Amino acid sequence: MGKKIRIGALISGGGTNLQAIIDACEAGEIDGEMVFVGSDSPGAYGLERAEKYGIPTFTVDYKAIIRAGGTPEGLTLPDDFDIGKAAAQQSLFTSEKDSARVRAFLSTRAAAEAGLLEAMAPYPFDLLVLAGFMRNLTPYFIDRVNTDPDRPRIMNIHPALLPAFPGVDGYGDTFRYGCKVGGCTVHFIDYGEDSGPIIGQKVFAIEEGDTLEQVKVKGLSLEWALYPECIRLFARNRLKVVRTAHVLENGKTMVRAVVKILPKGVAV
Ligand code: GAR
Repeated sequence: MGKKIRIGALISGGGTNLQAIIDACEAGEIDGEMVFVGSDSPGAYGLERAEKYGIPTFTVDYKAIIRAGGTPEGLTLPDDFDIGKAAAQQSLFTSEKDSARVRAFLSTRAAAEAGLLEAMAPYPFDLLVLAGFMRNLTPYFIDRVNTDPDRPRIMNIHPALLPAFPGVDGYGDTFRYGCKVGGCTVHFIDYGEDSGPIIGQKVFAIEEGDTLEQVKVKGLSLEWALYPECIRLFARNRLKVVRTAHVLENGKTMVRAVVKILPKGVAV
């Protein structure tokens, strides 16, 4: 076994994925240890799970910060926040890159993300996992974590087979659409919504008569296996992001970053 990687986690809720990752670390299935767990909402049950293992926790109350953004006193923005740059970089809002609404969003998020960065600072980490973290991270935060563009280190788990059904209700969207399979995806995050390079996916069948609740149960149980598997590959240095140019039928060139999984024994 190699050196253990240090893993930080951000959550918003119950933290069953967090639990699966902690369990995999404890069992030695991931060469890693959880060094902090942060939440955007006070009282998230995942924080209690972490505390049981003596893992440091913190909360940055996004709702309170967003509320402050709507008051005359306004927000305390970080000194190094460049709103023009963040607006140009982000691809969360593609049709309105730099409207007042986008600026308000980016400002409240930068205030919250500065809080996250400050709370994370005492705990150096190799990998940050989003485990049911229900907030979009903006370029302000992402650039301060991903300091090497060739080595992204923020992973997310999403409850759908991306690129289908990004957003907040992956299983619900899959179910309502009448899909015959559903799934979950682990990916590195980029500046868009659930759009970063895919690391792993698992698929389940949706049978006639399945309820949304049954679909969620099937999906979550696959998430608990998929997330640790992907983290294990990261810990073993087996994930490499490569950018490939593709010439499309219309003659235009598209560049896409994808994750290559290296064979055992070949480090990046
Ligand atoms: C999981 O289904 C995860 O895929 C989803 O939230 C749930 C969290 O459950 N994440 C997202 O929708 C992110 N956009 P958990 O708190 O029990 O791990």
